[in-house]
Amino acid sequence: MITILTIIFVTLLSSSHVLAKTDDGTARTPPMGFLSYTAFDTDTDCDRYPNSCINEQLYKEMADRLVADGFADLGYRYVNVDDRWMEKDRDANRRLVADRKRFPSGIKGLADYMHSKGLLLGIYGDIGNLTCSGTLPGQNNHNTGERDFFDIDAQTFAEWGVDSFKQDGCYEDVKKYDQLYPRMGDELNKTGRHILFTCEWPFFQYVLGGIHPDYAAISRTCHTYRNYKDVLDSWASIDEIIKYYGDYNDEFIKYSGPGHFADPDELTIGNSGLSYDQSRTQMAMWSVWSSPLLISTDLRKLRPEYKAILQNRELIAVNQDRHGIMAKMVYRDNDHQIWVKPMEPVIGGQWSYAVVYLHKRPMGHPIYMSKTVSELIPDVKDNTKYEVHDLFLDDGKEILGTVGKNDRLELLVRPSGSVRMVKLVVK
Ligand SMILES: *[C@@H]1O[C@H](CO)[C@@H](O)[C@H](O)[C@H]1NC(C)=O
Ligand SMILES: *[C@@H]1O[C@H](CO)[C@@H](O)[C@H](O)[C@H]1NC(C)=O
Repeated sequence: MITILTIIFVTLLSSSHVLAKTDDGTARTPPMGFLSYTAFDTDTDCDRYPNSCINEQLYKEMADRLVADGFADLGYRYVNVDDRWMEKDRDANRRLVADRKRFPSGIKGLADYMHSKGLLLGIYGDIGNLTCSGTLPGQNNHNTGERDFFDIDAQTFAEWGVDSFKQDGCYEDVKKYDQLYPRMGDELNKTGRHILFTCEWPFFQYVLGGIHPDYAAISRTCHTYRNYKDVLDSWASIDEIIKYYGDYNDEFIKYSGPGHFADPDELTIGNSGLSYDQSRTQMAMWSVWSSPLLISTDLRKLRPEYKAILQNRELIAVNQDRHGIMAKMVYRDNDHQIWVKPMEPVIGGQWSYAVVYLHKRPMGHPIYMSKTVSELIPDVKDNTKYEVHDLFLDDGKEILGTVGKNDRLELLVRPSGSVRMVKLVVK
């Protein structure tokens, strides 16, 4: 009964607006996988750094680890190549060519490799003259004194069997993005292959161009869209992204959902920059925001405690909830925040909720954070009860108790960017 009602509701919703390109069935839940950028940058010196330069071996080894270490079974299926995979010059047919030395099997060969393992391949390009590293061809490539290459590149990617395309925003006038990104989206759509389109349109417009992005148009064009600075391997960076998502929370809630998710950039968990607690915090926030979960760390060297965070089934289930709702920030002061995400199970019209308590003060002992259920869920019904599930098992037991409207959800939270995360499961 509940399922039937939800289906009717979803059908009503989707028939009430013009069919967007992002309604093609791609990214109904946030994409999960690997992206090389934060962990490996764009180093091409394979003589000096044979195990961490950008070449096909790197992506194949990451794919092998995703499968062998259980990531793929949990949903981490995209292996995303970033900048510097291509040759400087296009071929005689004006098609992009993979670097002959570092990608000897070509992108088609790499895509075949991924598909043979049940994985998906993502590739990188740029809306402007050059990719962001500054010397390689983008899709607009005026430097050749010729036409642009949106159509040729889309067809090439489709023929190669590419599953995802990240289009960066360097070397172009950000004011033209409202025309250019939808054109690229059209070209990808015309190929007939479902290619997840990930845009840097709002990031470049807002952060670098001072333009408030047209999120309605963006969410019709891009399956995921980077809307803030590149994540760095540091707590300062994660903290800044969390602040930005709080500042624009209402707008991002409105324009993020199945088929079109806001993307706060990669998970940096497993690298050198975040503590264990801060790594849990990144995973918790990205999960309640319904953000893409793109791991960027050397999976060959991942320590078990970080692997456990990335493989936390409860958090992945929060992230992959089929409604794809972005959490609401219900409380913020200098040192604390509380975020609440509606999710399944929904019983008799009453939702369940994932709740994150964040404690940022960089000193002192663990403190209790405490709110009544009605402060977390303003429209809670008088007699609804929720079972409180501890999603990181910080209390050593899964179910912490049962709460109703006027009860307090009180949790002890460590300092310095730590979280507690629970799920209020409606009874
Ligand atoms: C192309 O866009 C239409 C909506 O405009 C959508 O129904 C269709 O599935 C898309 N095709 C592909 C291959 O993405
Ligand atoms: C792109 O290239 C064209 C042709 O060389 C040039 O006029 C234009 O300024 C370039 N755009 C950017 C943003 O670099």
